[in-house]
Amino acid sequence: MIAREKDLYIERNESREEISSSTGDKNEIASSYFKSVPELPVRRAKTAIVTGASSGIGLELAKKLSLNGYRVVANSRRITAARTAETDHIKLVDGDISLLETAERVVATAIQHFGTIDLLVNNAGVFLPKPFMEYTTEDLRVAFATNLFGFFFVSQLAVARMRLQKFGHVVNISTSLVSQPIAGLPASLAN
Ligand SMILES: NC(=O)c1ccc[n+]([C@@H]2O[C@H](COP(=O)([O-])OP(=O)(O)OC[C@H]3O[C@@H](n4cnc5c(N)ncnc54)[C@H](OP(=O)(O)O)[C@@H]3O)[C@@H](O)[C@H]2O)c1
Repeated sequence: MIAREKDLYIERNESREEISSSTGDKNEIASSYFKSVPELPVRRAKTAIVTGASSGIGLELAKKLSLNGYRVVANSRRITAARTAETDHIKLVDGDISLLETAERVVATAIQHFGTIDLLVNNAGVFLPKPFMEYTTEDLRVAFATNLFGFFFVSQLAVARMRLQKFGHVVNISTSLVSQPIAGLPASLAN
């Protein structure tokens, strides 16, 4: 049993014992109630993964989620050096999210420390506002690696966990240029 689930199990059973000892064995209504009612849902902290969380939209998302009671695994290539997303409830994972190895570490951190993955926010992305004809091979490689592979690996791993849990959400931060393109801005590449 993973740590958090174990805690919840203990909390649930302790609260039952408290109720039954405070009301005494004579209170047959209360004890028969607990025998007949299935496990009640227990409020627990949710876990979110946010990629590209050292600045901008990702940083604000990580902070807001943490303020709203989420445990957060925050990733970017240099997130520990940035020191912007640190709170008690945020674990930082450095690494290029376009690499499978980084995606594995991000997902493993969430499961090892917090037990579940309730939300994945695919936010890491690059925006290279250049005319199509000026794109270099390196520009194309960076755009596809970050915006496409950076979405793919971590999503596949997180969704595998969500399917086991039977719950979870994935939010992808994209751009309005996908549905409303502007001539001269191929910035929606792989977005
Ligand atoms: N701001 C806008 O107006 C706008 C408009 C349309 C779409 N978007 C999209 O919204 C998202 C966030 O935009 P933003 O303006 O908040 O961006 P931002 O301030 O430039 O932040 C980008 C974040 O992504 C991280 N990052 C970049 N490449 C990464 C990689 N390979 N692996 C892991 N992390 C990486 C960066 O940190 P490191 O450098 O430490 O890795 C940083 O934390 C992006 O996907 C962007 O395309 C933004």
